Amino acid sequence: MKGIEIISTGVGLPSKIMTNDDFAKIVDTNDEWIYTRTGIKSRRFCDENESNLTLAVSAAKEAFERAGIKPEEVGCVVVATVTPTYATPSTACFIQKELELPEDIPVLDINAACAGFIYGLEVARGLLLSREKKYGIVIGVEQLSKVTDMTDRSTCVLFGDGAGAVVIRTEEEALYESYVGARGCMEIFIEGIASPVSHIHMNGREVFKFAVSVIPKVINTIFEKSGYTMEDVDHCICHQANGRIIDHVVKKYKAPEEKFYKNMDHFGNTSAASVPIAMNEMLQKGILRSNETLMLVGFGGGLTMAGAMIKYVGKEA
Ligand code: ACO
Repeated sequence: MKGIEIISTGVGLPSKIMTNDDFAKIVDTNDEWIYTRTGIKSRRFCDENESNLTLAVSAAKEAFERAGIKPEEVGCVVVATVTPTYATPSTACFIQKELELPEDIPVLDINAACAGFIYGLEVARGLLLSREKKYGIVIGVEQLSKVTDMTDRSTCVLFGDGAGAVVIRTEEEALYESYVGARGCMEIFIEGIASPVSHIHMNGREVFKFAVSVIPKVINTIFEKSGYTMEDVDHCICHQANGRIIDHVVKKYKAPEEKFYKNMDHFGNTSAASVPIAMNEMLQKGILRSNETLMLVGFGGGLTMAGAMIKYVGKEA
């Protein structure tokens, strides 16, 4: 069975930085509360010239250029997002146009909230294998500032905007094991296009409980299927929702803290974008090296959950 591996990464990051102190001027909150509960210090928001589209295109272009492949070699574009600029055309169609990709390939957006990027890997793998194509682009992108209720202190401090992209390739012997699932419930939701106002609503406590139980469940399922253990994994990149959630998982596995990367302190929760943004940052810092094994885990609205064990085989920074 063919697996997939990651050959390059890219990001699109908005320019505006919102600190916890900026939020303290808008709602009844403070840096100490936000940081101790979530690990977040600042996040990035799009300005008037930036959007889900501009971020996604920047991330895809960067990953595509680093991959060093030709447009006609790309077999699919999968974009994971809950905040597309248009209901249609999809964000993926804009990427196809900007990258001058062929027209006889599937390009589509998917919605699996914060697990979306990992769902995207799974979908892209299926599309590539069924069409006998080698390369695909998977992007996680969000403009959550667009749906943030700036009067609700329990949610507005948590989220940020951004995009991360990877180019993947299928390989006969590549290591790839995954788990994707969902529970079908409303603990987090954003109204759809029929609603005059669209805002994030979240039962934070329930989502916290869900996350700390489901991350080990996803990881253990992948270990059972593959025969691998935490010792075989070089880096575990969990969805960057809350530092305390990741700390729980580190404790559970008695793993070294540095195996679980955290960067929500300067990006907040960027939903589907958080895992590829983290991966790109780890590469730039020299933390992620070529041929290392990654455990990627996402959880979010749906409630969705997903994990993938996959190798990064591209260039080092
Ligand atoms: N500043 C100050 N006080 C606040 C703030 C704030 N920003 N927000 C809430 N509070 C108050 C509440 O009003 C409450 O006050 P009360 O006791 O007087 O009623 C108190 O703090 C405690 O509120 P809780 O909601 O119980 O706080 P909790 O410790 O659960 O932390 C948090 C909240 C950070 C949201 C946490 O529950 C969490 O991180 N949950 C997980 C969220 C998550 O992972 N989401 C990922 C998926 S998101 C997606 O898919 C789009």
